[in-house]
Amino acid sequence: MNNGRFGIWLVGAWGGVATTVATGLAALQNGLSERVGLVSELPKYAQLDLADWKCFVLGGHEIRKTSYLAEARNLLDSSRVFSADLLAKAAPTLEAFDKNVRTGTLINVGSTIESFATPATLKTRGEPPRAALGRIAADLKEFRGTHNLDHVIVVNVASTEPPAEGDAAGLPWSELSRLLDQQDRSPVPASTLYAVAAMKSGCSYINFTPSVGSNLPALQELAAETGSLHMGRDGKTGETLLKSALAPMFAARNLQVKSWVGHNIFGNMDGKVLDDPVNKENKVRSKDRLLAEILGYKPQTLVTIEYIESMGDWKTAWDHIHFSGFLGTPMVMQFTWQGCDSLLAAPLVLDLVRFCEREHRRGKTGLMTHLCSFFKSPMGTDIHDFSRQVALLDAWAEEIAARP
Ligand SMILES: NC(=O)c1ccc[n+]([C@@H]2O[C@H](COP(=O)([O-])OP(=O)(O)OC[C@H]3O[C@@H](n4cnc5c(N)ncnc54)[C@H](O)[C@@H]3O)[C@@H](O)[C@H]2O)c1
Repeated sequence: MNNGRFGIWLVGAWGGVATTVATGLAALQNGLSERVGLVSELPKYAQLDLADWKCFVLGGHEIRKTSYLAEARNLLDSSRVFSADLLAKAAPTLEAFDKNVRTGTLINVGSTIESFATPATLKTRGEPPRAALGRIAADLKEFRGTHNLDHVIVVNVASTEPPAEGDAAGLPWSELSRLLDQQDRSPVPASTLYAVAAMKSGCSYINFTPSVGSNLPALQELAAETGSLHMGRDGKTGETLLKSALAPMFAARNLQVKSWVGHNIFGNMDGKVLDDPVNKENKVRSKDRLLAEILGYKPQTLVTIEYIESMGDWKTAWDHIHFSGFLGTPMVMQFTWQGCDSLLAAPLVLDLVRFCEREHRRGKTGLMTHLCSFFKSPMGTDIHDFSRQVALLDAWAEEIAARP
């Protein structure tokens, strides 16, 4: 077991996923939790010499003012996510993590996300992108220095921004970089600023959200220049995970999918953000993309996401798949998925961090396409079939085992 010191820097540090990551990590570090749900704990990855959970320290950027315990208690009260006993035992570790949270940036996040910001964060409005970058980089440097960390992995688990890549998609790094000096004209959203700061600070960057983050040609260039690892985007945790496991079955049996409709309802803060049609567009695009890639043709699709407050952190997805078989006979498959959003997402974030640290330790740079099974819209690959994606992770593990 490796015993270095590593940092997890969560952008969106006190959100639902981040709070569950912090609570899960505290539970693992204090021997309070089973390892169910953690991919990196599967016996087939035991030969990877992955970092022990105790090697990790957690910090991050936020735009609200709260604490891990307050947010975890909200999740417990509204959605029965943790046990009160676990929270009481994890409290000292969570309070230590709180001390590492710093004020984030609101640049180009849109009005819905801005409405959550506390006065201290609102004071940063009008800050030029270059200054925000400097502030984020200084926070990362302080985190690394204070905790004597060998490497820091920045993970974006902040609210989903409105789509933005159109504005910066065609720009090389030299031009995108120039725009960072233009306070009013820069189209660069916060998720990309955090990615730039991470790469320029020697950190790895993982985007668990549908926001653009490092998914721009300019950022690929920057990653190559700085020798950074990165990957994204949008964690594949529930309904889309099922789609990526089931669609290959229809393809392999030569069943013709005529339409695939997915209705999603949930009531957490992410749901509130996605209730804004502008922010929702990013998520719907991400959930809708994979079917055509897997099937080789595009059936009619519909994805809806609705905010139903009483559901709290519990998401229900109802999918209706209309397909035809031999001699054109129409048939229907329906499924209902009821998952606890944060508890599905948090272990994947912990796995991603652990696998990323291992890749960094062996000196690799660039996109980590072997981690594509964790994402709805994986960067750098068109492979969406879940079992083929897992085979890539296994091949990576075998390569390390053969040449540690
Ligand atoms: N199963 C899942 O929960 C799941 C799956 C895939 C992707 N995601 C994505 O992960 C993200 C987080 O989900 P969540 O349920 O924790 O949402 P959340 O709303 O509970 O948390 C988001 C947090 O980000 C903070 N934030 C927003 N903008 C910020 C900024 N510019 N800088 C710093 N902090 C900022 C918010 O204040 C909030 O605390 C969302 O984008 C969501 O779409 C979640």
